[in-house]
Amino acid sequence: MTDTPQNDRVVIFDTTLRDGEQSPGATMTHDEKLEIAAMLDDMGVDIIEAGFPIASEGDFAAVSEIAKNAVNSRICGLARANFADIDRCWEAVKHARLNRIHTFIGTSPLHRAIPNLTMDEMADKIHETVSHARNLCDNVQWSPMDATRTEWDYLCRVVEIAIKAGASTINIPDTVGYTAPDESASLIRRLIETVPGADEVIFATHCHNDLGMATANALAAVAGGARQIECTINGLGERAGNTALEEVVMAMKTRHDIMPWTTGIDTTKIMAISRRVATVSGFAVQFNKAIVGKNAFAHESGIHQDGMLKNRENFEIMRPEDIGLSGTSLPLGKHSGRAALRDKLHNLGFDVGDNQLKDIFVRFKELADRKKEVFDDDIIALVRVGEDAENDTLKLVSMKVVCGTGGPAEATVEMEIDGRDVSASETGDGPVDATFRAIRALHPSSAHLQLYQVHAVTEGTDAQATVSVRLEEDGVIATGQSANTDTVVASAKAYIHALNRLIVRRGKMGQGADSREISYKDLT
Ligand code: KIV
Ligand code: ZN
Repeated sequence: MTDTPQNDRVVIFDTTLRDGEQSPGATMTHDEKLEIAAMLDDMGVDIIEAGFPIASEGDFAAVSEIAKNAVNSRICGLARANFADIDRCWEAVKHARLNRIHTFIGTSPLHRAIPNLTMDEMADKIHETVSHARNLCDNVQWSPMDATRTEWDYLCRVVEIAIKAGASTINIPDTVGYTAPDESASLIRRLIETVPGADEVIFATHCHNDLGMATANALAAVAGGARQIECTINGLGERAGNTALEEVVMAMKTRHDIMPWTTGIDTTKIMAISRRVATVSGFAVQFNKAIVGKNAFAHESGIHQDGMLKNRENFEIMRPEDIGLSGTSLPLGKHSGRAALRDKLHNLGFDVGDNQLKDIFVRFKELADRKKEVFDDDIIALVRVGEDAENDTLKLVSMKVVCGTGGPAEATVEMEIDGRDVSASETGDGPVDATFRAIRALHPSSAHLQLYQVHAVTEGTDAQATVSVRLEEDGVIATGQSANTDTVVASAKAYIHALNRLIVRRGKMGQGADSREISYKDLT
């Protein structure tokens, strides 16, 4: 990476709440979106792409509220190349102190064929729509979707039109994750050298990870002259996801000698937001994921452990503290008090209020009675499942399961549904199947089980299991989670959690609050 940049500061544009949230199953509730936006704002993200306001009433409400609450970040909304989208976007982002309209159109031959526009017709449309956006908002970003598969001459032509019409940021998306680092760098470099007016705007890079090169491509684009990286927490996003914020930020910090660019990100906030996004999106972080994976700072082999004890730098290029991982991880036990728990939560990046602490402490004591040592991951799991609302429609009262060799498993489940106690027994192919059948007998639902995932939180046979369940019903998706030392109990609770969230979402849809009239599939 050789270029000497004129300006070393790279703008971090986070699209977890737009491109990340459009990944099937990653849907977040309104409150979760506000919470993630507040965390992004607090960690120093320059621009938050908060959603796609015309997609649904729910998206519009979330973007508007995020715009009202923003403290430091600029709030951006997405709009297709038409006046209705752009007007709706402006209505949502206008509440922010700093705002942006991001409008886009697919410019590659394949994408031009979708609206069936000629090159000239599309060029006119770009001029009209960017000018319209610029009349509403003094900060406009324009993207030629599928730029990396757009003919070079046409790309230069449309970028020039967008700049002349008033766009101040030109984003060059690698929509299908097709490019490679050298090409990514040279595309931006050549655009800056070729297009009239290019020196007056910021070029952005937006990479998808289909070939596993999103981080490398984004950093290469910066070497080529881009000064805005579009990314998501944990690399969340459709298909293989987007460039991961934590990867590009830590790469620039750790290898500043060869990537001499800075960001405004407080890296010590990375772990906390990574965990929160994993929880609310239901997309667990893979254990060996760079920077934020559970094993990213774990040293298993004897040789590595020995080397680490002699000098951390033998095997560690970053300090765990730099991403907000506490240095010490002494387990808590049943004699640990509230203050120790609060301190541990703080070190893990969770600053909880008194009521939440009270609730977590009760569940911590229950767990400590069952488990000798309560590890950091157990505590994280406790925080994650502490979200069952008091006013849930469905509550698990008790359950009993008989299973083993020589016959189907049988589950008896007692639940409180809308305040009434009911119970049912069902048999099934194994304990989890029998339990889910019993729950469905009590609360009939046509929801289709899209995902059932179990993870052991720590080592040992008394480890807690965290279970994630994703349900889909008529296009509405809800994810539920739970943790328990009993895997079947955790499964039942996660299933009920997902059903409760489905009920809430369907209720909101009835009021027109959360149905996505425009599928994100229409975009990429
Ligand atoms: O991947 C993509 O092209 C996008 C655009 C909407 C910018 O997300
Ligand atoms: Zn994208």
